Amino acid sequence: MKTYITTAIPYVNGVPHLGHAEDYLLADIYSRYMMMCGHDVRFQAGTDEHGNKIEKKALDLGIDVKQYVDENSKKFQEFIKKLGVEYTDFIRTTDADHEKRVQAIWKQLEAHIYKSNYEGFYCEGCERFVTETEYKDNNGICPDHQKPYEHLSESNYYYRVSDFKDAIREKIESNELKILPEFRKNEILKLLDSTPDVSISRPTAHLKWGVKVPGDDEQVMYVWMDALSNYITVLGYPDKDISDFWPATVQVVGKDILRFHAILWPAILLGLGLPLPKTLLCHGFILSNGQKMSKSIGNVVDPIEVLDKHGLDAFRYFFSRHVDTFTDGDFTWDKFEDAYNNELANDYGNLVQRLSNLCKKNEITREFLEKRKVLEDGKFRNTWDSDDAEYKRLMDNFEFTKGIEYAWGKISAVNKRIEDTKPWSVAKENPEEAKILLASLVADLLNANEMLKPFLPIAEKVSEIFTAKTIVPPETPLFPKEFKKEA
Ligand code: MSP
Repeated sequence: MKTYITTAIPYVNGVPHLGHAEDYLLADIYSRYMMMCGHDVRFQAGTDEHGNKIEKKALDLGIDVKQYVDENSKKFQEFIKKLGVEYTDFIRTTDADHEKRVQAIWKQLEAHIYKSNYEGFYCEGCERFVTETEYKDNNGICPDHQKPYEHLSESNYYYRVSDFKDAIREKIESNELKILPEFRKNEILKLLDSTPDVSISRPTAHLKWGVKVPGDDEQVMYVWMDALSNYITVLGYPDKDISDFWPATVQVVGKDILRFHAILWPAILLGLGLPLPKTLLCHGFILSNGQKMSKSIGNVVDPIEVLDKHGLDAFRYFFSRHVDTFTDGDFTWDKFEDAYNNELANDYGNLVQRLSNLCKKNEITREFLEKRKVLEDGKFRNTWDSDDAEYKRLMDNFEFTKGIEYAWGKISAVNKRIEDTKPWSVAKENPEEAKILLASLVADLLNANEMLKPFLPIAEKVSEIFTAKTIVPPETPLFPKEFKKEA
């Protein structure tokens, strides 16, 4: 079975921030899960490198735009690696292949493109044309960027989204294009009615840094036209047959850009005669202490600092368990420290240490675990299809926060069972019975540990410890206590 997972490609007008991690983590959790289910996974990531705000930022800094995007794209690639995210394809919208393919896509869409004048407003922060109603509702100031909208009067090419509105509505309503969570689906259906045709180019007098419109030297493509196409150009469209991996199984996006993915993108795909993605998974925003992160408030959390100090498992744990998959989440150092100390270090790290010590003391070997049918050919097999079908249901439905909670319930149950059965006391009375008990505790731990694998890469190491020929406890705790609260 083939699975294609995509992530939104961030603008490179700055360095990666905490919010950017969300797309990658959700996609990586699903990717690891699907690989465990035996799927052949393709996973795209990339950077969005054209448009006004990037051009302007580079010019302000007095740097050549290409050099600027080269440097920043690298920072995003490093960031993604630091998160332990294992993508298969990385695309930059300045790649020559991508630019050529986007031009070919434009030509294929020409029957739905017309030229007209745009008289209205634009938000450079959102890279978005703003309707008259929005302009009035927001008193001329973008609520997300706190900047006045720019007035534009220019000649553009338009994409006739109206040609596809009925088809898009039908696909969304029937869940052929599934939008998760459900309340976002209703928002989009409402927005669809009032969506006008979309301007898909900018005159070079107003923007030079973009893909040239074929046959018109005075126009470059609107950045979203170029950026959305990345999901198929990265697969080789239109030069290659992409039907092995398209339609995408899931496209992960943040709430601020769902409208582009649920309206303009389907309209482009329908214009190309391509099927629509199966699911759009829309996540919320990460706040810091309940507020939007902003340099002026001084509450910006640097994700690299969190990763360098506490490691990728701690980072991934916090985000999976304490930032809800579908709604806004909150990062505070207090919450992070509590989760690290009380959950990761106490519940999981200590359990691994304690059980591996008990196994070593009581000479539990791979051979013994095989004899007790805990392992088969040295491997542990998960039971998601039977005993833990609930975990599978949650993961299949992208309910990742609930999925890790389910796994954690199993971890807590192993801790409780150790406390209740006291294998160290049993060992004093009856060593053979203690060994049988320990083998069954290892089975419970390995079972819970399998469920943690999509979330925590360290779970692979834990598997290795308990499936080795002889069990050797880790020399240092998996999650050493790092945070000592000041009295
Ligand atoms: N370049 C466009 C995406 C094009 S996709 C064809 C873009 N870039 S972005 O850098 O502004 O955002 C990239 C992703 O990060 C989006 O999914 C966006 O929702 C997400 N986030 C940006 N800030 C965020 C938070 N504070 N919290 C969670 N996600 C946020 O939009």
